[in-house]
Amino acid sequence: MEDAAPQTIHLSDYTPPAYLVDKVELTFRLDPERTRVLSRIAFRPNPESREREFFLHGEGLELISSRIDGAEVTPDLVEGGLTCEVPDAPFTWEAEVEIAPVRNTALEGLYMSSGMYCTQCEAEGFRKITYYPDRPDVMAVFSVRIEGDMPVLLSNGNPVSSGDGFAEWHDPWPKPAYLFALVAGDLVDHPGHFTTRSGREVALNIWVRPGDEDKCAFAMEALKKSMTWDEDVYGREYDLDIFNIVAVDDFNMGAMENKGLNIFNSSCVLASPETSTDANFERIEAIIAHEYFHNWTGNRITCRDWFQLCLKEGLTVYRDSQFTADMRSAPVKRISDVIALRARQFREDNGPLAHPVRPESFVEINNFYTATVYEKGAEVIGMLKRLVGDADYARALDLYFERHDGQACTIEDWLAVFEEVTGRDLSQFKRWYSQAGTPRLKVTENFKDGEYTLEFEQKTPPTPGQDQKLPQVIPIAVGLLGPNGDEVVPTTVLEMTEARQSFSFSGLAAEPVPSILRDFSAPVILERETDNAERAFLLAHDTDPFNKWEAGRALAREGLCEMIVAGAPPDAAYLDAVQAMARDDALDPAFRALALGLPSQDDMAQTLHERGHTPDPQAIWEALETLRQARAQHCQDLAARLHAQYQVTEPYRPDAQQTGARALANAALGLISRLDGGAAAQRQFDTATNMTQQLYALSCLLQAGKGEDAVARFYDQWRHDRLVIDKWFMMQVLHAEPAEAAATTERLTRHSDFDMKNPNRFRATLGALAANPAGFHHASGAGYRLLADWLIRLDPVNPQTTARMCSAFETWKRYDDSRQALVAAELDRVLSTPALSRDTTEMLSRIRG
Ligand code: ARG
Ligand code: ZN
Repeated sequence: MEDAAPQTIHLSDYTPPAYLVDKVELTFRLDPERTRVLSRIAFRPNPESREREFFLHGEGLELISSRIDGAEVTPDLVEGGLTCEVPDAPFTWEAEVEIAPVRNTALEGLYMSSGMYCTQCEAEGFRKITYYPDRPDVMAVFSVRIEGDMPVLLSNGNPVSSGDGFAEWHDPWPKPAYLFALVAGDLVDHPGHFTTRSGREVALNIWVRPGDEDKCAFAMEALKKSMTWDEDVYGREYDLDIFNIVAVDDFNMGAMENKGLNIFNSSCVLASPETSTDANFERIEAIIAHEYFHNWTGNRITCRDWFQLCLKEGLTVYRDSQFTADMRSAPVKRISDVIALRARQFREDNGPLAHPVRPESFVEINNFYTATVYEKGAEVIGMLKRLVGDADYARALDLYFERHDGQACTIEDWLAVFEEVTGRDLSQFKRWYSQAGTPRLKVTENFKDGEYTLEFEQKTPPTPGQDQKLPQVIPIAVGLLGPNGDEVVPTTVLEMTEARQSFSFSGLAAEPVPSILRDFSAPVILERETDNAERAFLLAHDTDPFNKWEAGRALAREGLCEMIVAGAPPDAAYLDAVQAMARDDALDPAFRALALGLPSQDDMAQTLHERGHTPDPQAIWEALETLRQARAQHCQDLAARLHAQYQVTEPYRPDAQQTGARALANAALGLISRLDGGAAAQRQFDTATNMTQQLYALSCLLQAGKGEDAVARFYDQWRHDRLVIDKWFMMQVLHAEPAEAAATTERLTRHSDFDMKNPNRFRATLGALAANPAGFHHASGAGYRLLADWLIRLDPVNPQTTARMCSAFETWKRYDDSRQALVAAELDRVLSTPALSRDTTEMLSRIRG
């Protein structure tokens, strides 16, 4: 079939499916080159639709035979699927197709990874397995028979029967095809067990490749905690007799919530103290929770169409962040989430890829699994909860589950339960779902006769396709501090609805210092004229942990701006304040470690750009280096004290307490390494008993230019562990000097362990280049050229991972003319590649603008 020009799909074109499916029976005869898929599907005309054309999606399938009600038919094969004459009544469709999993390098549909068969169907991968109405509003009950000479044969739902070379599964819960999954391979099981609160006994299994079974215990505990938490906090119980998780080495994303059979990128499930950092452990716990929580928010209640993706993803991210906040430290989680939100979502929202939380059109839906849909989608739910309060949030969620269980829903359905429970009109709030861009919230203050007034003005800059923005509802959490640092007005949520709006506080004895946007109560950019004295005051006295951290961050950012723009020396106010904070043993070590973090290079580029400067990546890098050096000198004694004091002597536990101690000790090591030529880092590297210590020491050595020996020894030690070797690739690129970064990356792509077909390895190498801004944006253009070369190479192999990597270029319009010219040439070169995928074409055209 000829490839037609890529089509744009619009939310406004939604129509209900012409036919519904009651029952699906699938038989798989597995073979790497010639897998046969037999389908038997009970269709009936949809009473809600007037459309009578019978269309089934299908891609890359070889149709062997097809029958309707037992009689052979000859369907019309058309672009993207088939059509066929069908009876005007319920009928049974049967088809046999052939596919070649071993040649499926796109890792979408049925593919092979390290000798095992596995699937990834979200969003539109099921059509690569068989002909089917591959849309989430078609929900059906699936029965699956797998035939293959593999010891472990898994699918969704409950096991029905199994024997030599076959297994049968039945999933009683109607589901869309994107939640279908199949796994077959030589796998070993880490078993567990859970009893739900109503007494259902659930067998839990984590399936991994032989040799990985000692890295499953942490994920199993995380799963049990998630199951308990969802019962306790949302009243949601698990609904099958078995819950399987499988670890797969080759996977485009983090993990997938297939009903009863979650499939995970092995990097998001396998963990041991020796091979995983504290950050890895925390991420694994969060992703296990995320996928498990999808069982209710995603699976039992799914999306009507892919424009509603945030319905399940925003809510599930919100739920997993609540879970992490409960399991660990809520302030630390909030601060980390905001750092990530600004780094990824603000960046997206303020560039050519900006799109609403609920997009209105797409070419390739895989390109919309974005920070905006996920993370801003979660922020929107957090705002909603703040506006209606905890009790009404809980009532609305109960109503949502009760009313929509078993349905494929929309954002309108979601908002309606809140409107009903609270009596509020949420039509203005809905703009958070339809308007792209990060609102700028400007605030001015006025104090007179004991009355303190905050005047806010909101403005959202234009984004692609949206020139004019209307005012949004912004919950602004505010507290006021008196001159002596006491809180005179505790946190109050101001509800801003107008473009300009004032709020007053009366009866104040003296002019207060405001703490605005506490807990980061809305995903906006706050603009306020203030000075370093006030920032230092808030850093010392604010009772809101987020704003306390934010004050320190602002001090660092302002100081850096002065250094970059005006050539100022490092700011003494910042150095004193950060030292005072780091020294304060009454504060949580994890919080202090966060406060010792500096804005990233990309943060600084973003900030300078917002303020009308053209960021110079090299100057940003140099300013950060200078500041790090000055800080090391300023905090020399303290660093030595902290590094010794916060060594963990107990056996390793990846919990919040030990994680915080190690983070602070490592931050101290970072300071020490600036002055001692890497001696302390070398000692830590040599004696490390866990990956958190070992990897951080390696990064210090690389930054000190003393990494050569450690890099070689790290490789020898870990050459047989793919996930650790990913870190080895990543560290070298991330910490390469700006002028060396492209060459280092290029050299590593020639290493015998580099494998572009493995998304983890590709991201560890080329993704790390993009995460080294001074290197990637080096004036020579070598970084741009190298990445473009690899996009061209990877695209025919794996369009989805290629398209994701394109976002490295999304900030190109911030930079100077000569860099822009270099990027434009590379974008055009990739775009003119023959047969470039729909995925990559869409991303690069949007970026090119
Ligand atoms: N639903 C999965 C999750 O949020 C992500 C899967 C996305 N897959 C994709 N091909 N876009 O955990
Ligand atoms: Zn998800």
